[in-house]
Amino acid sequence: MPNSLFRTKKIESILKEGSDDGHGGTGLKRVLNVRDLTFFGIAAILGAGSFSSLGEACFKGGPGVVILFIICGIACAFTAFCYSEFASRIPVAGSAYTYAYASFGELFAWIIGWALIMEYSIGNIYVAFSWSDYFTSFLHKVNIHVPDYLTCSYAEAKKTFLKYASQTSIEQIEFVKNQANAELLNAWNNPPMLGSLKVIFDLPALIINLLITTLVYIGIKESKNFSNAMVILKLAVVALVIIVGAYYIDPANWLPVNDAGTKSFMPNGFGGVMAAVSSVFFAYIGFDAVSVLAEESKNPQRDLPKGMTWSLVICTVIYILLALVLTGVINYKQFENVGDPLAKIFEVKNVGWMQLLVSVCAVIAMTSVLLVFQMGQPRIWMSMSRDGLLPSVFQTIHKKFKTPSFSTIVTGLVVGIPILFTDKSFVLDFTSIATLFAFVLVCGGVLLLPRKEKVAGRFNMPYINAQFIFPLLVLVSLIVLIRWAPGYFAEMFNYDFSANADFVENKVSFMDLATPKISLIVFWLSAIVLALLAFVKKYSLIPLMGVISCLYLLTGMTKSNWAWFLGWLALGLVIYIFYGYRKSKLANA
Ligand code: ALA
Repeated sequence: MPNSLFRTKKIESILKEGSDDGHGGTGLKRVLNVRDLTFFGIAAILGAGSFSSLGEACFKGGPGVVILFIICGIACAFTAFCYSEFASRIPVAGSAYTYAYASFGELFAWIIGWALIMEYSIGNIYVAFSWSDYFTSFLHKVNIHVPDYLTCSYAEAKKTFLKYASQTSIEQIEFVKNQANAELLNAWNNPPMLGSLKVIFDLPALIINLLITTLVYIGIKESKNFSNAMVILKLAVVALVIIVGAYYIDPANWLPVNDAGTKSFMPNGFGGVMAAVSSVFFAYIGFDAVSVLAEESKNPQRDLPKGMTWSLVICTVIYILLALVLTGVINYKQFENVGDPLAKIFEVKNVGWMQLLVSVCAVIAMTSVLLVFQMGQPRIWMSMSRDGLLPSVFQTIHKKFKTPSFSTIVTGLVVGIPILFTDKSFVLDFTSIATLFAFVLVCGGVLLLPRKEKVAGRFNMPYINAQFIFPLLVLVSLIVLIRWAPGYFAEMFNYDFSANADFVENKVSFMDLATPKISLIVFWLSAIVLALLAFVKKYSLIPLMGVISCLYLLTGMTKSNWAWFLGWLALGLVIYIFYGYRKSKLANA
């Protein structure tokens, strides 16, 4: 068994299955060019991350969160190179899953496919919740009021009630001054009852999921035109937010006074910046979704890498500017619990028309994110089904619409049903950790690919020998830290919890705070092992930097994030052993 767990698929056979040149085509239509793919990338990237979770990120990291946007942008750029290399070698649908099958083998392919459910489906739950927030606030502005119990999740209302109930009466008065808290409490206290069950659910989130599922079911061409139009509109409005917002910037906000009374670009220190990693990284998720459209693009080997790179570059610039504008217009502390930060700055500055415009635009932006991810998930399942790892019904293509019909419906259910049970912060963390994990494996996969001759007209990742550069980088980083940050390694092994009392009290639990040191130890050990391997095997520098930068971002995840994620992986493993391992086409070849 151990060897067969790592059985790999030959690239030639993957290409043969995915091609439509008479060797057993998939039936999907080839209609997308570079512009469409770039638009798909932006449609997937620019959404709830910038319109919603950016507020939380600014609150945690202060203006210094810009640094995290740059770090994440760099990590994603390295990863995009790796996706591009794979996409140019294996231009078929399936994303990281297909790539892992060719490099690491079946078990890892399954693990990635399983982790990608987090990115595509569970991520969409967060986006659907955020969509609903903006949609209901828009309705509110035009005087249409939806009852509170139909605009939030049961879990969120219950959590808010429990928090409220555990407070002193003075704290409770402050607590309900926050409008979001007041609405959640109202939802919990005054819902209709079904027997003894409180009927509380996010109706707009469910409706948008239903609409998007229908659109994806109907077909790629219709979805493409719809998506392109939405992307143009959201880019225009984000540009307007940046331009109008820039007018209100007060540079003093970029050096706010922190709780200790000192002025700092990073008021909560670098720890505060890293605490925002889930929110910031979530904003970048999506460039990789371009790769699942391989079988619908006209020239995937040339166009997929271009589409991915363009969309990533454009969004990185937008994020940096947005973060600077947001933290420049108002004090970072004003973003506490703010779910609509882009509208918030104009609310504080009393610019009514911008508030309304931003709400409308946010709804549009998030609709296009939902659309792209809802299109991506069925295509990954279709690939997994082709390989025998999922039942064959997952590869059913609709006769008339030429879309993966069954997988599309299942995706709708996987997004829709948890909307009834989960809450936003949980799905945000879950999505980010799983996606980073998949990115590490994709970059690692490129390291295992045999080197190839350059082929004209295709993407060719430049080979830079990491033999000396990478070990030197690790060594210099270690020396710099030991020399200029003497407490760094001591703290890693012996964390001083009392020094972080405020943080513990307000933000994360004691258990969570303990985690960064474990992940940091794992990170540095990995860096040393990779340095040794790079020296011996003369690895290519770009994928190696991809692995190490994504591993670094994973150090920002909390212990409970890891616990949930590992539990999810364990469940996937059980399913693989009892189903995929036996039914795999490779096993039965
Ligand atoms: N990056 C996507 C968003 O921000 C997932 O909505």
